[in-house]
Amino acid sequence: MSINLSLYLVTDSTPAILKGRDLCTVVEEALKGGVSIVQYRDKTNDTGVLVETAKKLHAITQRYNVPLIINDRVDVAIASGAEGVHLGQDDMDIEAAKKLLPGNAIIGISVSSVEEARRAVEQGADYLGIGTMFATPTKTNTKNIIGTAGTKKILEAIGDMDRKVGAVSIGGINLSNVQRVIFQSQASNKGLDGVAVVSAIMGADDPKSAAQEFVKRISTLPPFAVLPPAPRPNEVDALLSEVPTVVQEMVSAHPLVHSMINFVVANFAANVALAIGSSPIMSPYGDEAADLAVHGGGLLINMGTLNGESVSNYLKAIQAYNARGNPVVYDPVGAAATEIRRAAVKQLMAGGYFDLIKGNEGEIREVFGNSAGRQRGVDSGPSTLNNREKAALARDLARRERNIVLLTGAVDYISDGNRVIAIGNGHEFLGQVTGTGCALGTVSGAFLTVHRTDKLLAVLSGVLMFEIAAENAAAAEDRVRGPGSFVPAFLDELYAIREAARKGDNSWFTGRAKIQEIHL
Ligand SMILES: *[C@@H]1O[C@H](CO)[C@@H](O)[C@H](O)[C@H]1NC(C)=O
Ligand SMILES: *[C@@H]1O[C@H](CO)[C@@H](O)[C@H](O)[C@H]1NC(C)=O
Ligand SMILES: *[C@@H]1O[C@H](CO)[C@@H](O)[C@H](O)[C@H]1NC(C)=O
Repeated sequence: MSINLSLYLVTDSTPAILKGRDLCTVVEEALKGGVSIVQYRDKTNDTGVLVETAKKLHAITQRYNVPLIINDRVDVAIASGAEGVHLGQDDMDIEAAKKLLPGNAIIGISVSSVEEARRAVEQGADYLGIGTMFATPTKTNTKNIIGTAGTKKILEAIGDMDRKVGAVSIGGINLSNVQRVIFQSQASNKGLDGVAVVSAIMGADDPKSAAQEFVKRISTLPPFAVLPPAPRPNEVDALLSEVPTVVQEMVSAHPLVHSMINFVVANFAANVALAIGSSPIMSPYGDEAADLAVHGGGLLINMGTLNGESVSNYLKAIQAYNARGNPVVYDPVGAAATEIRRAAVKQLMAGGYFDLIKGNEGEIREVFGNSAGRQRGVDSGPSTLNNREKAALARDLARRERNIVLLTGAVDYISDGNRVIAIGNGHEFLGQVTGTGCALGTVSGAFLTVHRTDKLLAVLSGVLMFEIAAENAAAAEDRVRGPGSFVPAFLDELYAIREAARKGDNSWFTGRAKIQEIHL
């Protein structure tokens, strides 16, 4: 029997999940829906009950030509004639299990680190259960939560080994996150062969249709996924020729941007959005997001003034926008400033997909998990990375998350994981008034909403419109004497570019962009 790990059902016979239904009936419904492998897991019953239940389950799985795997118990697998066992790190080792089991038995191993994964492959495991992906309400042990980033690292490591084994992700996977899990865990040399699902099928009112829906989603990309375009020989020239058109697209589309933004800068960000020709909605209320997302706009999460309710509101909104494939921008303001913010970064990164993560060096380092230590406040601290390291950080985070990363500073670095572009435009007055960085998040959301095929080009177009307007404002010596008078002039110049673009006049852009491709 060949193993198809695609939809791997793990049983759970606790009353809260079975709700009085018979285990065998639930499993059979799930098989009808397309479950491709079943693991019987019961950590409490006596051996006699386990063997009896396993035999009943085996009679059913055989009818569907699907293997039955027994969790932990080699003896129960042998007594019931099941096709294999799944062993944890604390269970019997593979070598001992192989001595007891028939030669063709399937052996799966739970792993949560590269080291455990390599060892399991060397010892002859047939597949790995990689986890824990997400925290689940029933599992209080959270030390092994590795997320998509940790899963990808393990896949990368086993992808390089001579022996090829299967890999499934396990832990908190449900219909709303399954596509993202598969998409973001994909390493350059190996992807997941499937996902293990427990309560999202076992506890579903209709296990058959839940399984059917999983099969559908597993075989398709998530709605927000766009594969970056193939590299071009003259990337910078190509991008320069496309930016004015993208600005025209944005200006004529009036995209809606829903900003969940800090209260310090909400007014300014809304004015910037209006000036560029987009339509701002400032709402911190997560329950409103599903209604707002219907209009096809983008979402900005800016955690500048976090409070006790922010994260749950953000997560609701992110899920609503992700589900429709609308763009979501994350500005992790002050990410490293406090323990609360660090925890918020982790929760948000685990809770949804961000098309763009934008932040200064300290913020991007914190999101990447390579923090330079506590930030003093939410303003950008002194830089400790050189230009090449900044470019590499943007590229590595974008590659890991399969999204766009914009690392802002005197020079901005933008990457989609393949291309890295340095942007030298802007003016120092942008750093002298609050909210300019935050408003750039709203602007990026507007551009991503309109131009979806090349997200790097979309964000780059927004940054250039924004920074060239700032240069124009600062150069207006008759009107601008410092940061105070800069703000109204900046809004005027954004508006002037918008009006030019609306009329198809690209002269505002000619010869102005200072961009360079960085080859790492
Ligand atoms: C133990 O087995 C019985 C009989 O099959 C079943 O009803 C019960 O749910 C099982 N308990 C657990 C915790 O799995
Ligand atoms: C594996 O199982 C999935 C889910 O039922 C199914 O869609 C897919 O076609 C199967 N693959 C193979 C090679 O049989
Ligand atoms: C799916 O799991 C995530 C946790 O990873 C949770 O936040 C979300 O509410 C769940 N969605 C559904 C539909 O159960």
